[in-house]
Amino acid sequence: MKVLMINGSRRDAGCTYTALSLVAKELNAAGIETEIMNVGSRVMKGETKEAVKEALAVMKEADGLVIGAPVYYASPAGEALMFLDRFFWDGGDDLRCKPCATVASARRAGTTATLDALNKYPTICEMPLVSSSYWNMVHGFTPKDVMQDLEGVQIMETLGRNMAWLLKCIEAGKAAGMEPPAYTKKTLTNFIR
Ligand SMILES: Cc1cc2nc3c(=O)[nH]c(=O)nc-3n(C[C@H](O)[C@H](O)[C@H](O)COP(=O)(O)O)c2cc1C
Repeated sequence: MKVLMINGSRRDAGCTYTALSLVAKELNAAGIETEIMNVGSRVMKGETKEAVKEALAVMKEADGLVIGAPVYYASPAGEALMFLDRFFWDGGDDLRCKPCATVASARRAGTTATLDALNKYPTICEMPLVSSSYWNMVHGFTPKDVMQDLEGVQIMETLGRNMAWLLKCIEAGKAAGMEPPAYTKKTLTNFIR
């Protein structure tokens, strides 16, 4: 089994990456492969389209998704949103019914508003949200700060274990013949017709 992890920060090895690594460590300990893709820096270089294509190719085979973003002005960083808007628009069947977790990293404030925005993506794609012992956030300006945020570290580790458990439950369900419900074509209305 594999989980794709999206680092929406322009800093490839910053706080968001550190938080994702903590989640990855627990998934790996449970025998689940992880791949962290640094997409924020790709967006900064004008490579959004390529990054989305590469991430979707990985997502096709992946069983779960973790999205991480730093908080900028109390919202997800623009680079993360730019990537996510395209990734989820094009994702379709490769996302449906696969568990997803979202993670926010901030120095101090804006984490819950950021998680609220991030959670909007998987919850319109029939993806079960994975939770932890608190909202999925870490605090820090540097990776060292994040590692000193003991509660944040614990939240990430618990998140990784919870995601591993859910993935294994889904796998066991499939082995017992429990497939995801059939896709229902969306009825799109615009309140006029
Ligand atoms: C442009 C900008 C805006 C930021 N806005 C906030 C903010 O609103 N609240 C906050 O707590 N931290 C804010 N920060 C700090 C980052 O969210 C924080 O350092 C985060 O952990 C960085 O993650 P990263 O290293 O993965 O990029 C901001 C940083 C930048 C560069």
